[in-house]
Amino acid sequence: MIEINPTSRINGEIHVPGDKSISHRAAFLGAMTRDGVEVSNFSPGQDCASTLACLEAMGCAVEQDKALNTVKIKAPTGLKEPKDVLDAKNSGTTARLLLGLLSGIPNLFAVVTGDESLKRRPMGRVVKPLVAMGAKIDGREFGERLPLAVRGRKLSGGVHTLQVASAQVKTAILLAGLGAQGATTVIEPSPTRDHTEIMLEYLGVPVLKDGLKVTVYPTSSIPGESWRIPGDFSAAAFWIVAAAITAESELRIKEVNVNPTRTGLLKVLERMGLDHAIEDETLSGGERTATVAVRSSRLKGTTVSPEEVPSLIDELPVLAVAATRAEGITEIRGARELRVKESDRIHAMAINLKALGAQIQETDDGWIIEGRTTLSGGRAKSFGDHRVAMAMAVAGLVATGPVCIEDEECVSISYPGFFDDLTELTQTCLKEVSS
Ligand code: S3P
Repeated sequence: MIEINPTSRINGEIHVPGDKSISHRAAFLGAMTRDGVEVSNFSPGQDCASTLACLEAMGCAVEQDKALNTVKIKAPTGLKEPKDVLDAKNSGTTARLLLGLLSGIPNLFAVVTGDESLKRRPMGRVVKPLVAMGAKIDGREFGERLPLAVRGRKLSGGVHTLQVASAQVKTAILLAGLGAQGATTVIEPSPTRDHTEIMLEYLGVPVLKDGLKVTVYPTSSIPGESWRIPGDFSAAAFWIVAAAITAESELRIKEVNVNPTRTGLLKVLERMGLDHAIEDETLSGGERTATVAVRSSRLKGTTVSPEEVPSLIDELPVLAVAATRAEGITEIRGARELRVKESDRIHAMAINLKALGAQIQETDDGWIIEGRTTLSGGRAKSFGDHRVAMAMAVAGLVATGPVCIEDEECVSISYPGFFDDLTELTQTCLKEVSS
Protein backbone atom coordinates (compact mmCIF):
# COMPACT_ATOMS: atom_id res chain seq x y z
CA MET A 1 0.00 0.00 0.00
CA ILE A 2 1.29 3.48 -0.77
CA GLU A 3 0.42 6.75 0.93
CA ILE A 4 -0.14 9.84 -1.22
CA ASN A 5 0.03 13.21 0.48
CA PRO A 6 -1.71 16.40 -0.60
CA THR A 7 0.28 18.99 -2.52
CA SER A 8 -0.48 22.33 -4.08
CA ARG A 9 2.04 22.21 -6.92
CA ILE A 10 3.03 19.98 -9.79
CA ASN A 11 5.91 21.79 -11.39
CA GLY A 12 8.62 21.19 -13.94
CA GLU A 13 9.13 19.17 -17.10
CA ILE A 14 8.55 15.49 -17.60
CA HIS A 15 8.81 12.75 -20.21
CA VAL A 16 6.21 9.98 -19.91
CA PRO A 17 6.89 6.39 -21.08
CA GLY A 18 6.51 5.36 -24.72
CA ASP A 19 2.96 4.83 -25.91
CA LYS A 20 1.60 1.40 -25.00
CA SER A 21 -0.79 1.06 -27.96
CA ILE A 22 1.87 2.06 -30.49
CA SER A 23 4.48 -0.20 -28.86
CA HIS A 24 2.20 -3.26 -29.13
CA ARG A 25 1.61 -2.51 -32.80
CA ALA A 26 5.31 -1.96 -33.49
CA ALA A 27 6.02 -5.40 -31.99
CA PHE A 28 3.28 -7.21 -33.90
CA LEU A 29 4.08 -5.55 -37.21
CA GLY A 30 7.80 -6.00 -36.54
CA ALA A 31 7.24 -9.74 -36.29
CA MET A 32 5.51 -9.61 -39.67
CA THR A 33 8.19 -7.61 -41.50
CA ARG A 34 10.86 -8.97 -43.82
CA ASP A 35 13.85 -7.36 -42.13
CA GLY A 36 12.52 -6.65 -38.65
CA VAL A 37 12.10 -3.36 -36.86
CA GLU A 38 14.17 -1.32 -34.45
CA VAL A 39 12.12 0.67 -31.99
CA SER A 40 13.25 3.25 -29.46
CA ASN A 41 11.27 4.53 -26.46
CA PHE A 42 9.35 1.22 -26.39
CA SER A 43 6.78 1.09 -23.57
CA PRO A 44 8.44 -0.24 -20.39
CA GLY A 45 5.12 -1.60 -19.08
CA GLN A 46 4.29 -5.23 -18.37
CA ASP A 47 1.59 -5.32 -21.05
CA CYS A 48 4.08 -4.75 -23.85
CA ALA A 49 6.46 -7.24 -22.22
CA SER A 50 3.63 -9.80 -22.53
CA THR A 51 3.39 -9.09 -26.25
CA LEU A 52 7.17 -9.53 -26.68
CA ALA A 53 7.13 -12.79 -24.68
CA CYS A 54 4.31 -14.23 -26.81
CA LEU A 55 6.12 -13.29 -30.03
CA GLU A 56 9.37 -14.80 -28.70
CA ALA A 57 7.51 -18.01 -27.91
CA MET A 58 6.65 -18.11 -31.62
CA GLY A 59 10.29 -17.96 -32.69
CA CYS A 60 10.60 -14.22 -33.04
CA ALA A 61 14.01 -12.77 -32.11
CA VAL A 62 13.60 -9.98 -29.57
CA GLU A 63 16.67 -7.98 -28.51
CA GLN A 64 15.82 -5.53 -25.77
CA ASP A 65 18.16 -2.94 -24.31
CA LYS A 66 16.33 -1.89 -21.17
CA ALA A 67 18.85 0.85 -20.31
CA LEU A 68 18.45 2.49 -23.72
CA ASN A 69 14.79 1.52 -23.98
CA THR A 70 15.19 0.05 -27.45
CA VAL A 71 13.87 -3.19 -28.91
CA LYS A 72 14.79 -5.02 -32.11
CA ILE A 73 12.12 -7.44 -33.31
CA LYS A 74 12.64 -9.84 -36.16
CA ALA A 75 11.20 -13.14 -37.34
CA PRO A 76 13.42 -13.83 -40.39
CA THR A 77 12.04 -17.30 -41.04
CA GLY A 78 8.45 -16.52 -40.12
CA LEU A 79 6.44 -17.21 -36.98
CA LYS A 80 6.40 -20.79 -35.68
CA GLU A 81 3.95 -22.88 -33.70
CA PRO A 82 4.53 -22.13 -29.99
CA LYS A 83 5.41 -25.10 -27.80
CA ASP A 84 3.25 -23.89 -24.95
CA VAL A 85 0.20 -21.78 -24.17
CA LEU A 86 0.63 -18.07 -25.02
CA ASP A 87 -0.05 -16.00 -21.92
CA ALA A 88 -1.22 -12.43 -22.56
CA LYS A 89 -1.41 -11.94 -18.74
CA ASN A 90 -3.33 -8.66 -18.09
CA SER A 91 -3.12 -7.33 -21.65
CA GLY A 92 -6.28 -7.15 -23.75
CA THR A 93 -4.34 -5.69 -26.68
CA THR A 94 -1.89 -8.62 -26.64
CA ALA A 95 -4.68 -11.22 -26.60
CA ARG A 96 -6.86 -9.63 -29.26
CA LEU A 97 -4.07 -8.73 -31.67
CA LEU A 98 -2.55 -12.20 -31.22
CA LEU A 99 -5.85 -13.81 -32.19
CA GLY A 100 -5.81 -11.78 -35.41
CA LEU A 101 -2.21 -12.66 -36.17
CA LEU A 102 -2.49 -16.39 -35.37
CA SER A 103 -5.75 -16.98 -37.25
CA GLY A 104 -4.13 -16.46 -40.64
CA ILE A 105 -0.94 -18.52 -40.23
CA PRO A 106 -1.78 -21.80 -42.02
CA ASN A 107 -1.65 -24.97 -39.86
CA LEU A 108 -0.24 -23.25 -36.78
CA PHE A 109 -1.94 -24.29 -33.53
CA ALA A 110 -1.87 -22.04 -30.48
CA VAL A 111 -3.78 -21.49 -27.27
CA VAL A 112 -4.09 -17.95 -25.90
CA THR A 113 -4.82 -17.31 -22.25
CA GLY A 114 -4.52 -14.50 -19.72
CA ASP A 115 -4.76 -13.65 -16.04
CA GLU A 116 -7.99 -13.70 -14.00
CA SER A 117 -8.99 -10.22 -15.21
CA LEU A 118 -8.36 -10.96 -18.89
CA LYS A 119 -10.22 -14.29 -18.65
CA ARG A 120 -13.33 -12.31 -17.66
CA ARG A 121 -13.10 -9.90 -20.62
CA PRO A 122 -15.12 -10.31 -23.86
CA MET A 123 -13.35 -11.95 -26.80
CA GLY A 124 -16.40 -12.71 -28.98
CA ARG A 125 -16.09 -9.24 -30.51
CA VAL A 126 -12.80 -10.28 -32.12
CA VAL A 127 -13.50 -14.02 -32.54
CA LYS A 128 -16.74 -13.52 -34.52
CA PRO A 129 -15.31 -11.41 -37.37
CA LEU A 130 -12.20 -13.63 -37.55
CA VAL A 131 -14.44 -16.72 -37.81
CA ALA A 132 -16.37 -14.91 -40.56
CA MET A 133 -13.01 -14.64 -42.40
CA GLY A 134 -12.65 -18.43 -42.07
CA ALA A 135 -10.66 -18.66 -38.83
CA LYS A 136 -10.89 -21.75 -36.63
CA ILE A 137 -11.12 -20.55 -33.03
CA ASP A 138 -12.79 -22.24 -30.09
CA GLY A 139 -12.73 -21.90 -26.34
CA ARG A 140 -14.69 -21.14 -23.23
CA GLU A 141 -18.27 -19.97 -23.61
CA PHE A 142 -18.24 -20.79 -27.34
CA GLY A 143 -15.30 -18.50 -28.02
CA GLU A 144 -16.35 -15.61 -25.79
CA ARG A 145 -13.61 -16.00 -23.14
CA LEU A 146 -9.99 -17.05 -22.87
CA PRO A 147 -8.40 -19.53 -23.05
CA LEU A 148 -9.03 -19.76 -26.78
CA ALA A 149 -7.49 -22.30 -29.18
CA VAL A 150 -6.65 -21.25 -32.73
CA ARG A 151 -5.82 -23.45 -35.72
CA GLY A 152 -4.43 -21.05 -38.32
CA ARG A 153 -5.51 -21.24 -41.95
CA LYS A 154 -5.71 -19.15 -45.10
CA LEU A 155 -8.42 -16.55 -44.52
CA SER A 156 -10.64 -14.53 -46.84
CA GLY A 157 -11.01 -10.76 -46.42
CA GLY A 158 -14.52 -9.32 -46.64
CA VAL A 159 -16.35 -6.40 -45.09
CA HIS A 160 -16.70 -6.33 -41.31
CA THR A 161 -19.10 -3.93 -39.62
CA LEU A 162 -18.17 -3.65 -35.96
CA GLN A 163 -20.80 -3.47 -33.22
CA VAL A 164 -18.43 -1.88 -30.70
CA ALA A 165 -15.98 0.96 -31.31
CA SER A 166 -12.75 -0.93 -30.58
CA ALA A 167 -9.32 -0.25 -32.02
CA GLN A 168 -8.17 -3.64 -30.75
CA VAL A 169 -10.83 -5.43 -32.78
CA LYS A 170 -10.16 -3.24 -35.83
CA THR A 171 -6.44 -3.99 -35.59
CA ALA A 172 -6.93 -7.75 -35.13
CA ILE A 173 -8.99 -7.87 -38.34
CA LEU A 174 -6.52 -5.70 -40.26
CA LEU A 175 -3.56 -7.90 -39.17
CA ALA A 176 -5.49 -10.99 -40.32
CA GLY A 177 -6.42 -9.15 -43.53
CA LEU A 178 -2.79 -8.59 -44.54
CA GLY A 179 -2.40 -12.32 -45.15
CA ALA A 180 -5.95 -13.02 -46.36
CA GLN A 181 -7.33 -13.51 -49.84
CA GLY A 182 -8.92 -10.34 -51.25
CA ALA A 183 -9.44 -6.97 -49.61
CA THR A 184 -10.42 -6.68 -45.94
CA THR A 185 -12.57 -3.74 -44.87
CA VAL A 186 -13.49 -2.74 -41.33
CA ILE A 187 -16.38 -0.31 -40.75
CA GLU A 188 -16.40 1.22 -37.27
CA PRO A 189 -19.44 2.67 -35.47
CA SER A 190 -17.31 5.69 -34.48
CA PRO A 191 -13.64 6.60 -34.98
CA THR A 192 -11.11 4.84 -32.74
CA ARG A 193 -7.34 5.25 -32.40
CA ASP A 194 -5.75 4.90 -35.84
CA HIS A 195 -2.18 3.93 -34.89
CA THR A 196 -2.29 0.72 -36.94
CA GLU A 197 -3.31 2.56 -40.09
CA ILE A 198 -0.61 5.21 -39.52
CA MET A 199 2.06 2.57 -38.90
CA LEU A 200 1.10 0.52 -41.97
CA GLU A 201 1.30 3.67 -44.11
CA TYR A 202 4.68 4.49 -42.56
CA LEU A 203 5.87 0.98 -43.49
CA GLY A 204 4.68 1.56 -47.06
CA VAL A 205 1.77 -0.90 -46.87
CA PRO A 206 -1.30 0.30 -48.84
CA VAL A 207 -4.23 1.28 -46.58
CA LEU A 208 -7.40 2.91 -47.85
CA LYS A 209 -9.14 5.18 -45.36
CA ASP A 210 -12.58 6.51 -46.14
CA GLY A 211 -14.46 7.98 -43.18
CA LEU A 212 -15.29 5.13 -40.82
CA LYS A 213 -14.04 2.53 -43.34
CA VAL A 214 -10.51 1.18 -43.53
CA THR A 215 -9.30 -1.37 -46.07
CA VAL A 216 -6.11 -3.41 -46.36
CA TYR A 217 -4.99 -5.77 -49.11
CA PRO A 218 -3.01 -9.02 -49.25
CA THR A 219 0.64 -8.11 -48.63
CA SER A 220 3.35 -10.69 -49.25
CA SER A 221 6.21 -8.75 -47.71
CA ILE A 222 6.43 -5.78 -45.34
CA PRO A 223 9.77 -3.94 -45.31
CA GLY A 224 11.60 -3.31 -42.03
CA GLU A 225 11.84 0.12 -40.40
CA SER A 226 13.12 1.88 -37.36
CA TRP A 227 11.21 4.45 -35.40
CA ARG A 228 10.82 6.26 -32.12
CA ILE A 229 7.64 5.79 -30.12
CA PRO A 230 6.21 9.05 -28.76
CA GLY A 231 5.20 9.44 -25.11
CA ASP A 232 1.91 7.89 -24.06
CA PHE A 233 -0.92 10.44 -23.93
CA SER A 234 -2.79 8.09 -21.57
CA ALA A 235 0.14 8.35 -19.12
CA ALA A 236 0.40 12.13 -19.64
CA ALA A 237 -3.32 12.38 -18.79
CA PHE A 238 -2.63 11.79 -15.07
CA TRP A 239 -0.21 14.72 -14.96
CA ILE A 240 -2.49 16.94 -17.07
CA VAL A 241 -5.30 16.49 -14.56
CA ALA A 242 -2.93 16.68 -11.57
CA ALA A 243 -1.53 20.03 -12.75
CA ALA A 244 -4.99 21.37 -13.61
CA ILE A 245 -6.58 20.64 -10.22
CA THR A 246 -3.70 21.64 -7.91
CA ALA A 247 -3.43 25.30 -6.96
CA GLU A 248 0.02 26.49 -8.06
CA SER A 249 1.08 24.23 -10.89
CA GLU A 250 2.88 24.74 -14.15
CA LEU A 251 3.94 21.61 -16.00
CA ARG A 252 5.39 20.75 -19.40
CA ILE A 253 5.03 17.20 -20.67
CA LYS A 254 7.52 16.65 -23.49
CA GLU A 255 7.32 14.50 -26.61
CA VAL A 256 3.75 13.28 -26.12
CA ASN A 257 1.67 11.66 -28.83
CA VAL A 258 -1.12 14.10 -29.68
CA ASN A 259 -2.91 11.98 -32.27
CA PRO A 260 -6.45 13.47 -32.24
CA THR A 261 -7.99 9.98 -31.89
CA ARG A 262 -6.34 9.91 -28.44
CA THR A 263 -6.60 13.45 -27.10
CA GLY A 264 -10.33 13.67 -26.36
CA LEU A 265 -9.42 14.43 -22.73
CA LEU A 266 -7.86 17.75 -23.79
CA LYS A 267 -11.00 18.73 -25.72
CA VAL A 268 -13.22 17.92 -22.74
CA LEU A 269 -10.93 19.68 -20.24
CA GLU A 270 -10.72 22.68 -22.57
CA ARG A 271 -14.53 23.00 -22.34
CA MET A 272 -14.13 22.74 -18.58
CA GLY A 273 -11.70 25.68 -18.58
CA LEU A 274 -8.23 24.05 -18.81
CA ASP A 275 -5.34 26.46 -19.20
CA HIS A 276 -3.01 24.65 -21.61
CA ALA A 277 -0.95 24.89 -24.79
CA ILE A 278 0.34 22.45 -27.39
CA GLU A 279 3.88 23.41 -28.41
CA ASP A 280 6.63 22.25 -30.77
CA GLU A 281 4.45 19.82 -32.71
CA THR A 282 6.34 17.43 -35.03
CA LEU A 283 5.80 14.04 -36.68
CA SER A 284 7.49 10.93 -35.30
CA GLY A 285 6.95 7.69 -37.23
CA GLY A 286 3.87 9.30 -38.78
CA GLU A 287 2.43 10.18 -35.35
CA ARG A 288 1.87 13.76 -34.14
CA THR A 289 4.10 14.52 -31.17
CA ALA A 290 4.25 17.70 -29.06
CA THR A 291 4.89 19.29 -25.69
CA VAL A 292 1.72 19.66 -23.64
CA ALA A 293 1.95 22.60 -21.24
CA VAL A 294 -0.64 22.79 -18.44
CA ARG A 295 -1.31 25.25 -15.61
CA SER A 296 -3.61 25.22 -12.57
CA SER A 297 -7.12 25.84 -13.85
CA ARG A 298 -10.51 26.70 -12.45
CA LEU A 299 -12.68 23.94 -13.94
CA LYS A 300 -16.43 23.81 -14.45
CA GLY A 301 -18.66 20.79 -15.18
CA THR A 302 -19.49 19.49 -18.66
CA THR A 303 -21.23 16.64 -20.45
CA VAL A 304 -19.18 13.96 -22.22
CA SER A 305 -21.24 12.50 -25.05
CA PRO A 306 -21.14 8.87 -26.25
CA GLU A 307 -19.49 9.94 -29.56
CA GLU A 308 -16.56 11.44 -27.67
CA VAL A 309 -15.93 8.38 -25.52
CA PRO A 310 -13.55 6.39 -27.81
CA SER A 311 -11.14 9.35 -27.94
CA LEU A 312 -10.75 9.36 -24.14
CA ILE A 313 -11.80 5.88 -23.09
CA ASP A 314 -8.68 5.22 -20.99
CA GLU A 315 -8.69 8.74 -19.52
CA LEU A 316 -12.22 8.61 -18.09
CA PRO A 317 -11.13 7.42 -14.61
CA VAL A 318 -8.86 10.45 -14.16
CA LEU A 319 -11.48 12.74 -15.74
CA ALA A 320 -13.85 11.57 -12.97
CA VAL A 321 -11.28 12.85 -10.46
CA ALA A 322 -11.12 16.22 -12.28
CA ALA A 323 -14.94 16.39 -12.24
CA THR A 324 -15.03 16.18 -8.43
CA ARG A 325 -12.98 19.40 -8.41
CA ALA A 326 -15.03 21.19 -11.10
CA GLU A 327 -17.83 23.63 -10.31
CA GLY A 328 -21.25 22.13 -11.15
CA ILE A 329 -22.33 18.85 -12.69
CA THR A 330 -20.26 16.65 -15.00
CA GLU A 331 -22.08 13.85 -16.75
CA ILE A 332 -20.28 11.08 -18.64
CA ARG A 333 -22.54 9.05 -20.90
CA GLY A 334 -22.08 6.17 -23.35
CA ALA A 335 -19.04 4.72 -21.59
CA ARG A 336 -20.38 1.21 -20.83
CA GLU A 337 -17.13 -0.18 -22.29
CA LEU A 338 -15.46 0.89 -19.04
CA ARG A 339 -17.21 -2.02 -17.35
CA VAL A 340 -15.16 -4.54 -19.36
CA LYS A 341 -11.69 -3.05 -18.97
CA GLU A 342 -9.01 -4.40 -16.58
CA SER A 343 -11.66 -3.81 -13.88
CA ASP A 344 -15.21 -2.47 -13.97
CA ARG A 345 -13.90 1.09 -14.00
CA ILE A 346 -17.33 2.71 -13.59
CA HIS A 347 -17.86 0.86 -10.33
CA ALA A 348 -14.24 1.07 -9.15
CA MET A 349 -14.02 4.85 -9.47
CA ALA A 350 -17.48 5.42 -7.99
CA ILE A 351 -16.63 3.34 -4.89
CA ASN A 352 -13.23 4.98 -4.46
CA LEU A 353 -14.30 8.58 -4.97
CA LYS A 354 -17.39 8.14 -2.75
CA ALA A 355 -15.11 6.86 0.00
CA LEU A 356 -13.25 10.20 -0.15
CA GLY A 357 -16.51 12.15 0.05
CA ALA A 358 -17.20 12.87 -3.63
CA GLN A 359 -20.75 13.31 -4.91
CA ILE A 360 -20.66 10.66 -7.62
CA GLN A 361 -23.51 8.60 -8.95
CA GLU A 362 -22.76 5.46 -10.90
CA THR A 363 -25.03 5.04 -13.95
CA ASP A 364 -25.26 2.10 -16.32
CA ASP A 365 -22.90 3.77 -18.79
CA GLY A 366 -20.97 6.41 -16.85
CA TRP A 367 -21.21 8.78 -13.90
CA ILE A 368 -22.96 11.93 -12.76
CA ILE A 369 -20.53 13.88 -10.62
CA GLU A 370 -21.38 17.01 -8.68
CA GLY A 371 -18.59 19.39 -7.75
CA ARG A 372 -16.81 21.08 -6.36
CA THR A 373 -16.19 18.77 -3.41
CA THR A 374 -13.38 18.75 -0.93
CA LEU A 375 -11.99 15.23 -1.00
CA SER A 376 -10.94 13.79 2.33
CA GLY A 377 -8.05 11.46 3.05
CA GLY A 378 -8.79 7.75 3.23
CA ARG A 379 -8.26 4.47 1.46
CA ALA A 380 -8.59 3.57 -2.20
CA LYS A 381 -8.53 0.16 -3.89
CA SER A 382 -6.80 -0.29 -7.21
CA PHE A 383 -8.99 -3.31 -8.11
CA GLY A 384 -5.75 -4.57 -9.70
CA ASP A 385 -6.25 -1.94 -12.40
CA HIS A 386 -3.34 0.36 -13.28
CA ARG A 387 -5.49 3.27 -14.41
CA VAL A 388 -7.67 3.15 -11.28
CA ALA A 389 -4.53 3.17 -9.07
CA MET A 390 -3.02 6.18 -10.91
CA ALA A 391 -6.33 8.10 -11.02
CA MET A 392 -6.72 7.64 -7.25
CA ALA A 393 -3.14 8.81 -6.70
CA VAL A 394 -4.11 12.04 -8.49
CA ALA A 395 -7.18 12.31 -6.23
CA GLY A 396 -4.81 11.95 -3.26
CA LEU A 397 -2.89 15.05 -4.35
CA VAL A 398 -5.95 17.26 -3.76
CA ALA A 399 -7.38 15.50 -0.70
CA THR A 400 -7.27 17.11 2.73
CA GLY A 401 -5.32 14.19 4.20
CA PRO A 402 -3.27 11.20 3.05
CA VAL A 403 -4.85 8.70 0.65
CA CYS A 404 -3.56 5.13 0.90
CA ILE A 405 -3.79 3.07 -2.29
CA GLU A 406 -4.02 -0.69 -1.97
CA ASP A 407 -2.28 -2.96 -4.51
CA GLU A 408 -0.60 -0.05 -6.20
CA GLU A 409 2.04 -2.25 -7.91
CA CYS A 410 -0.36 -2.71 -10.84
CA VAL A 411 0.78 0.69 -12.20
CA SER A 412 3.64 -1.28 -13.78
CA ILE A 413 1.19 -2.56 -16.42
CA SER A 414 1.64 0.71 -18.32
CA TYR A 415 3.77 3.07 -16.18
CA PRO A 416 6.34 1.36 -13.90
CA GLY A 417 7.94 4.69 -12.91
CA PHE A 418 4.67 6.42 -12.02
CA PHE A 419 5.34 6.84 -8.29
CA ASP A 420 8.96 7.94 -8.90
CA ASP A 421 7.69 10.62 -11.28
CA LEU A 422 5.07 11.63 -8.74
CA THR A 423 7.77 12.06 -6.11
CA GLU A 424 9.88 14.15 -8.45
CA LEU A 425 7.06 16.37 -9.66
CA THR A 426 5.64 17.06 -6.21
CA GLN A 427 9.02 17.16 -4.42
CA THR A 428 7.48 15.08 -1.64
CA CYS A 429 8.33 11.64 -0.36
CA LEU A 430 5.91 8.80 -0.83
CA LYS A 431 5.52 6.38 2.03
CA GLU A 432 5.08 2.62 1.73
CA VAL A 433 2.61 1.66 4.45
CA SER A 434 1.61 -1.80 5.63
CA SER A 435 -2.01 -2.77 5.26
C1 S3P B 1 -6.36 -0.06 -27.18
C2 S3P B 1 -7.68 0.22 -27.45
C3 S3P B 1 -8.66 0.48 -26.40
C4 S3P B 1 -7.99 0.91 -25.11
C5 S3P B 1 -6.86 -0.01 -24.73
C6 S3P B 1 -5.80 -0.03 -25.82
C7 S3P B 1 -5.47 -0.37 -28.32
O1 S3P B 1 -9.40 -0.69 -26.15
O2 S3P B 1 -8.94 0.96 -24.06
O3 S3P B 1 -6.26 0.43 -23.53
O4 S3P B 1 -4.23 -0.38 -28.14
O5 S3P B 1 -5.99 -0.61 -29.41
P1 S3P B 1 -10.63 -1.13 -27.09
O6 S3P B 1 -10.09 -1.34 -28.44
O7 S3P B 1 -11.16 -2.39 -26.49
O8 S3P B 1 -11.60 0.00 -27.00
